Amino acid sequence: MMEPGILFSPTGIKQLGLRNRLAVAPMTRVSATEDGHATERMARYYRRFAEGGFGLVITEGMYTDQAYSQGYLFQPGISSAEQAESWRPVVDAVHAAGGKIVAQLMHAGALAQGNRFRGHTAGPSAVQPKGEQMKFYRGSGPYPVPREMRQEDIEEAAAGFAHSAQRAMDAGFDGVEIHGANGYLLDQFLTRHTNLREDQWGGNTENRIRLHTLVLGAVREALGHRAPVGIRISQAKVNDFSHKWAGEEDDARIVFSALAAAGADYIHVTEFEAWKPAFGTDGPSLLELARRYAPGVALIANGSLHESCRGAEAIAAGADLVAMGRSALANPGLPALLSGGAALAAFDSGLLSPIADIKDIEIGGQGKETPSR
Ligand SMILES: Cc1cc2nc3c(=O)[nH]c(=O)nc-3n(C[C@H](O)[C@H](O)[C@H](O)COP(=O)(O)O)c2cc1C
Repeated sequence: MMEPGILFSPTGIKQLGLRNRLAVAPMTRVSATEDGHATERMARYYRRFAEGGFGLVITEGMYTDQAYSQGYLFQPGISSAEQAESWRPVVDAVHAAGGKIVAQLMHAGALAQGNRFRGHTAGPSAVQPKGEQMKFYRGSGPYPVPREMRQEDIEEAAAGFAHSAQRAMDAGFDGVEIHGANGYLLDQFLTRHTNLREDQWGGNTENRIRLHTLVLGAVREALGHRAPVGIRISQAKVNDFSHKWAGEEDDARIVFSALAAAGADYIHVTEFEAWKPAFGTDGPSLLELARRYAPGVALIANGSLHESCRGAEAIAAGADLVAMGRSALANPGLPALLSGGAALAAFDSGLLSPIADIKDIEIGGQGKETPSR
């Protein structure tokens, strides 16, 4: 069994120093104002993770432009200077508690189910997404068929990421993470059955990963080397949990080496159970494949890693940090609990019901308190 102490050793991503290897995974909580501003409630919510000892907080996905990127009503955005400025109290609260905070930049594409700027959705191809809209984000029924994006829509989307990254720097964030995973716009381009294009954006895997690298390049150009630029990758999607890359390890090689070549400072790899073989019942995990094909790039591992031995194993398999999602919601003081060997509270999905917004109990209104350190 791995020694869990490794989780508490300081680390860094490029120039960003981190007090330990524990990160809060990005989690959409639809608790912004209707016009996408972060709120005081959100500052209190995020602060508790830093107070609880997490070295890094990755925000929920923020929409990046005033065209097709917004996914959910009450989702926060970073599509204007005012929205970016509304994040400053969140950033300050996390910093005051000794944590670092990265802004996740997200374009929902065909999975948008609440966008106040557009009455229809857009994606790589006019293919109806699988599954149903998420009720806990105020959606209902099937997803609409998106409009196929033109070249100028693609360029506008990439520019939205770059401008948002710049605004994130202005608001004091320590870095940005491009949401390239979980079925949202970038992942729609990567996925064969949602991308039927016959131009440079479709066809083989090299073409289907091109939007990730375009966005990475645009963000890098906007930020230079001022702050780390990360990107998140998954096989599974919010509307298709069991999706696997058809080209298996070949696809993994193409994807991870393209992200490394495009200058990603870190890759955030998420799977349901991060230690499981990426394909079939045997063989390396997606994390191990990322380590193999993106040498020298920092890695964040995510997926059911809340037990300290699992987290430590992910570090041994090549991750620099491990990110916790549901277990961080149930235990905002998770690092302090783990280091003290205390039991973790189980995640109760009732917390996200009927709507996934931030609940009073999470911001110290009543009930559980963050353990003192
Ligand atoms: C309520 C909720 C909201 C989420 N929102 C996002 C998001 O905005 N961006 C993202 O990349 N992942 C999002 N995720 C996925 C988590 O980051 C994470 O991958 C997932 O919870 C698995 O990690 P875990 O096993 O530690 O919970 C969300 C998960 C939950 C539970």
